[in-house]
Amino acid sequence: MEKNLTFFFFFYCFSIFIFFTNIHLLLAADTITPGGFIQDGDKLVSSAQRFELGFFSPGQSKSRYLGVWYKQSPEKVVWVANRNNPIPDSNGSLAISDDGNLLLLNGLKGVIWSSNISRKLENPVAQLLDNGNFIVKDNFSSNVSESYLWQSFDSPTDILLPEMKLGRNLKAGFDMYLTAWRSADDPSYGDFTLKLDIHLLSEMVIYNRSVKFARTGPWNGAFYGGIPTKPNLLFVPIVVNNQDEYTYRYESFNNPIVMLLKLNNSGMIQWQVWNERTTGWDVVYIAPEDLCGHYRHCGANSVCDIDKTQICECLKGFAPNSQSNQTSFNGCVRHSQLDCKGGDEFIKLDGIKLADLIDVSLNESMSLAECEAKCLNNCSCQAYINSNVTGGGSGCLMWFGDLIDIRKLVENRGTQDIFIRVPASELGTNSSVQSSTDNKNKGNGKPIWTIFIPILTLAMVILGFIVTYVRRSIRSKGEDLLQFDVSMGLDDDHAELTEVKKPGESRSRKEVKLPLFSFASVSAATENFSSTNMLGEGGFGPVYKGTLLKGDQIAVKRLSKRSGQGWEELKNEAILIAKLQHKNLVRLLGCCIEQDEKILIYEYMSNKSLDIFLFDPEKRKLLDWTIRVRIIEGIAQGLLYLHEYSRLRIIHRDLKASNILLDKDMNPKISDFGMARIFGGDELQANTQRIVGTYGYMPPEYALEGVFSIKSDVFSFGVLLLEIISGKKNTGFYQAESVNLLGYAWDKWTNDRALDMMDPVLEDAASEHILPRYVNIGLLCVQENAEDRPSMCDVVSMLMNETATLSSPKQPAFAHVRSQGGSRSSVTRPENCSVNDITVTIMEPR
Ligand SMILES: *[C@@H]1O[C@H](CO)[C@@H](O)[C@H](O)[C@H]1NC(C)=O
Ligand SMILES: *[C@@H]1O[C@H](CO)[C@@H](O)[C@H](O)[C@H]1NC(C)=O
Ligand SMILES: *[C@@H]1O[C@H](CO)[C@@H](O)[C@H](O)[C@H]1NC(C)=O
Repeated sequence: MEKNLTFFFFFYCFSIFIFFTNIHLLLAADTITPGGFIQDGDKLVSSAQRFELGFFSPGQSKSRYLGVWYKQSPEKVVWVANRNNPIPDSNGSLAISDDGNLLLLNGLKGVIWSSNISRKLENPVAQLLDNGNFIVKDNFSSNVSESYLWQSFDSPTDILLPEMKLGRNLKAGFDMYLTAWRSADDPSYGDFTLKLDIHLLSEMVIYNRSVKFARTGPWNGAFYGGIPTKPNLLFVPIVVNNQDEYTYRYESFNNPIVMLLKLNNSGMIQWQVWNERTTGWDVVYIAPEDLCGHYRHCGANSVCDIDKTQICECLKGFAPNSQSNQTSFNGCVRHSQLDCKGGDEFIKLDGIKLADLIDVSLNESMSLAECEAKCLNNCSCQAYINSNVTGGGSGCLMWFGDLIDIRKLVENRGTQDIFIRVPASELGTNSSVQSSTDNKNKGNGKPIWTIFIPILTLAMVILGFIVTYVRRSIRSKGEDLLQFDVSMGLDDDHAELTEVKKPGESRSRKEVKLPLFSFASVSAATENFSSTNMLGEGGFGPVYKGTLLKGDQIAVKRLSKRSGQGWEELKNEAILIAKLQHKNLVRLLGCCIEQDEKILIYEYMSNKSLDIFLFDPEKRKLLDWTIRVRIIEGIAQGLLYLHEYSRLRIIHRDLKASNILLDKDMNPKISDFGMARIFGGDELQANTQRIVGTYGYMPPEYALEGVFSIKSDVFSFGVLLLEIISGKKNTGFYQAESVNLLGYAWDKWTNDRALDMMDPVLEDAASEHILPRYVNIGLLCVQENAEDRPSMCDVVSMLMNETATLSSPKQPAFAHVRSQGGSRSSVTRPENCSVNDITVTIMEPR
């Protein structure tokens, strides 16, 4: 009886099992088991419908390949099985043998491609997983952690998906790397590969066959140095180095983001992000991004700086070698021999991608001071760095041969200082900012951190903001700000990441959705635009304070119907600013476009704008030195974000005191993006026939020739900085001799009387020692020649690092000439407020 029951129980369980297994096989189209197969035209679809596996023909080709692609975007093939063995017709099929080998068969049942595994499986099953991995495993093994018998992730094609790895599987002894397609029509092995090179430290290298084509800097414990931050803001890189593997992979910060890394057939790597709205792929980063990204472009012992006219320059202590000439630069050699008897010193170079790891040695536990001593003691040691930024500052990497493939980076973040050995006789008077001698670093590991911490903190803050932005934009979908007719939500927008907005190209194809409010609702919030609610009036029309039902306050800019700011500027501003999230940029909440009305709705800034304080004899006293420094730093951070960290490079073009708003704690926020321009990734300057901006803040190349670049904003920032510390307006400035504030500052600076620049209401002794430094920075920013001006990145590091040496400014623009708009320079009374501070637009006759 008992036996019978047991039998019955087993039979019952078995039936249920069979039943469910069958159902599973019927429903799940993501697996193949022995006996089953898929033929050309059939597909496997992963469980959450993200990936498909099947047969395809790339581009113009008629040949058939087995591959995996995104279901939502079938042209994005992420893996190909028979890269070099196409099937000529559509009679191919994929089966799995009884022992677990995948077999790709042609019409004559000949094997075209096989997974080639030697271990036999009892119950093999092939499955397409939702991360794009096509795997073979034992169906009856319930052991989830057991590794797959075979997986497509072990033999990548040209695309690295999240969860895929590059590098070495030490346990099984094979390498994983990407190999580009030969052409868009031909997935066979191309010339280019992307590998994780492991030589003491790891770095990512693109090879053209066996020749290095481009490389990142080495892994520093947190990221690969030398990669600009933009892609880093989208994902976290992960390097695993243990006895099983030495690999690189990445995870996206925001999981719904679908992204990939692709090596294309011309040797470029591209980070691509799926854009839901346009249902296309946005390329967010390309490498090598310019000539300096090409391996060894300038030869040995040189720095490649794409922002210079002569992009190749020898390292300090080196001179061009005999094969170098004007047209082809071929590297540098030491200009005088190293002393090697204690007469050598080190020059610090920062903001660069480190030299390639050739002829290096690494000691993980040495401090920077020990590293220096060790390097000095070995005559063949050419340079050293602190190799690990996360390991508490220890780690010593030394170079013994030529320094190869150093480039200047546009963004300073996460770069490591390299200390290059030079004979003491080479150390002349050198005050250049990037290659200044740094005696303070001698035998002391601390200063490296004083530079790193602010930079890393800045990066963290930016990351934080981006994450908050993404969260907030998800949350704000359908959130009813005014509790009126919010018709659309603020969208997280990945469009136009790399789109260059050409002059004259006004209507952008991809438009950003922004909350749209009805005129009735805005009118109600501002009590029918009552004059008591008016905050001020600018060139474009009045600004009102509004109150939402919940009590929150907003600022409402109602463009006057006659205003010069038309529909295009409004849209420009709305689209631009809706995408930006930074604590030093004013936030746009929505807009209202109805009949003739054009209205922008912003967060409310209780302290209005900077000019109201700065140029008012009484209110000025409220701005003590600490507040002024905070304002200067905030503006610098906001501009740095616009220039370097926002997903679009943005040039504000109309930075001035009245466009700096102050919140209740006197934190500055940059506003008014009506004139701003988006720059594409490699666009460095542009020309316009329509000069917009404000006299006194415009650099000469722009005011006179219409040429603008990020350095135009740097000029305006310099003017603003000098205005903030002196409390004087640049234009309308009157003082014996000088025609404007810049000229005045220059005279004071050259006569060694920089302290005279201090606003007399600042009776703050503490600020006295630091003030000349601010004058210096301000003057560097307003130099006549745009190339001489520092980038905002340099400015931020000068502001944050009080000990860094500053270079001497050259004479500023407009120092001793009447400033442009003649009528304005005739104004000789001190101006107090921004009401007249109109923005000008000149049409240049051409
Ligand atoms: C699962 O597989 C792994 C790897 O083969 C093995 O180490 C582990 O002991 C297995 N676990 C179980 C419960 O069988
Ligand atoms: C790759 O190397 C080949 C020579 O092997 C060369 O002809 C080709 O120009 C290189 N490609 C690039 C993009 O540099
Ligand atoms: C200097 O360093 C190199 C590379 O590590 C080593 O081969 C050489 O022996 C060292 N020379 C001295 C004098 O220590």
